[in-house]
Order: sequence, then C-alpha cells, then structure tokens
Amino acid sequence: MNAHTTPIAPQQARNRAPIPRRKMEFDFHSAEERFWFANNGLITAMLSALSATFPPGEKEFVQSVMHYRDQISDPVLLEQMKGFASQEGHHSYQHRQANAWLDTKGFAATDIEQDTERSIAAMGPKRGPAERLASTVVLEHITAILAEYMLTHDEMMASMPDAARELLSWHAVEEIEHKAVAFDVFEAVSGDRDLLHRVGAMTTAFFLFQQVRRTALTLKALGHRPTVREWKDTATFLFGRKGVITSVAKPYREFFSDTFHPWDHDNSHLVERWKATHEPAVHA
Ligand SMILES: [Fe+2]
Ligand SMILES: [Fe+2]
Repeated sequence: MNAHTTPIAPQQARNRAPIPRRKMEFDFHSAEERFWFANNGLITAMLSALSATFPPGEKEFVQSVMHYRDQISDPVLLEQMKGFASQEGHHSYQHRQANAWLDTKGFAATDIEQDTERSIAAMGPKRGPAERLASTVVLEHITAILAEYMLTHDEMMASMPDAARELLSWHAVEEIEHKAVAFDVFEAVSGDRDLLHRVGAMTTAFFLFQQVRRTALTLKALGHRPTVREWKDTATFLFGRKGVITSVAKPYREFFSDTFHPWDHDNSHLVERWKATHEPAVHA
C-alpha cells in the first residue's frame, strides 16, 4: 500500500536539527527601576523568583540527561545532547549574572538560588535516574510552552527593561530549539509513558508550590506588601484572556497524550524570527 517513500515530515526534520551554541552579553545594570516589570512589585517578584531558580535547575536538567549519554547510540541525538548541555550551561551563567543584579535591588535572588539547590539535593536520594529524567522532561515542556508565550506576546515583553527582555527572549528561543532533547533521550532509554505522566503531574504540582513559596520569600526579602492594583494586574497577567496560565493550559495538557512529541507543534518560525533580528550580532 505505502512504499514508505514519503519524505521526512517537517517536525521530524526539525527534531534532527543541530542545537547551536551562542555567547551572549546583557547590560543588566542599565535597568534602574526596582519593580522592573510594569512597576508591579508582585509580578516582578514572581519573575525574579523564577529567574533565581534557573542556575541550579538547569544544572539538574543537564545532569539528568547526560547521565544516559553512554546508552545513546544515535549520533545526531548525542550531538543534540551536547548542544543542549552547552545552551543550558550558558543560560545558568547569564541567570547567575541576573541574580547578582536582582540582589542589588533587594530580591534575594542568590538566597532563592541556594534554596533551589538544597531542594534538588534533598530529592536526589529519593529518585532513580528515569524518574529524574522524567521530571526534567516535563519541566522542559513547561519551559518550552512559556517560551512560546513570551515570543508571541510582544506587549507583555514590552513591559520589561531591555536587558531582561533580551535575556528572556534569547533563553526562550534556545528552549524551543532544544525542547525535544530530554524527551528523545527519555524515549530512547525508557519510553514508559505511565511513569512520565505520573512524574509529570507530581513535578508540576511541586514546581507551582515552590514558585508560590519562593515568590512569597522574595516579597518578604523586599519588605513589600502588594497593593490592590498589583494583585488585580497580576490576576490579569496570569488568568486574563491573554494571560500566561490561560494561554499555556492547553499545550500543557497535550503532554499527557500517549502520542505526544514536543515537535508535534512546530514553532520553529519563532526561532527564525529572533535569528533574523539578532543573529548578525551574535558570534557563536
Ligand atoms: Fe534554559
Ligand atoms: Fe531547557
């Protein structure tokens, strides 16, 4: 019936694409406002708390994936794993610089970073390598859908100073470029969708709990009690018609389909759009 002469589907071709390495610079100290997101202390605290978790979080992602490098025989995936590790390594480095800048504004980002390190270390002995990788896979999915949100909501990104916007746009682009790497490694070494879904749901709940807790810690460090306006604007930011949670709910749920693959949704045009305006100035 079918002679299997069909060319490789675009998403499969994209999935085999190399993961590039880029070196970036951001002038964080050019941003003077303390509440640098739309003058809203609550949203700024939320985003700062998230940024603070990236260096230890991404280190954990890389370790959980690279743990399996000796079990991967596909040379393309092995090369993608190296590109993924390199991208995450540079994200960690840049977010550490951002955290130092956030510290100068009273956001206690380095304390949150250490809190994240402790919580990852505490989970270590309780999880086997496959569970650890499954946790990375769902967090990479969450990162990738948040990345798409940022790259498709210019009005939201316009509420940030240049350095924060440039940092998050670059990070978002690379999260999309490598969004399938942890997933493909999981498929190669385990493929246990029940485990993936179970760990995925638990990890998401824990991630949300920690995000709320770390935002509260950040507000406490700032000594800031959000105003009614800040609460209202935050509710719109999260749950409004174009809000973050409203927008990512559907793509998040797709993770739990038994046939899900990150490149089922091809959003590589967002990477190409960023490259068109940024790549000439970047030296890999
Ligand atoms: Fe990252
Ligand atoms: Fe990532």
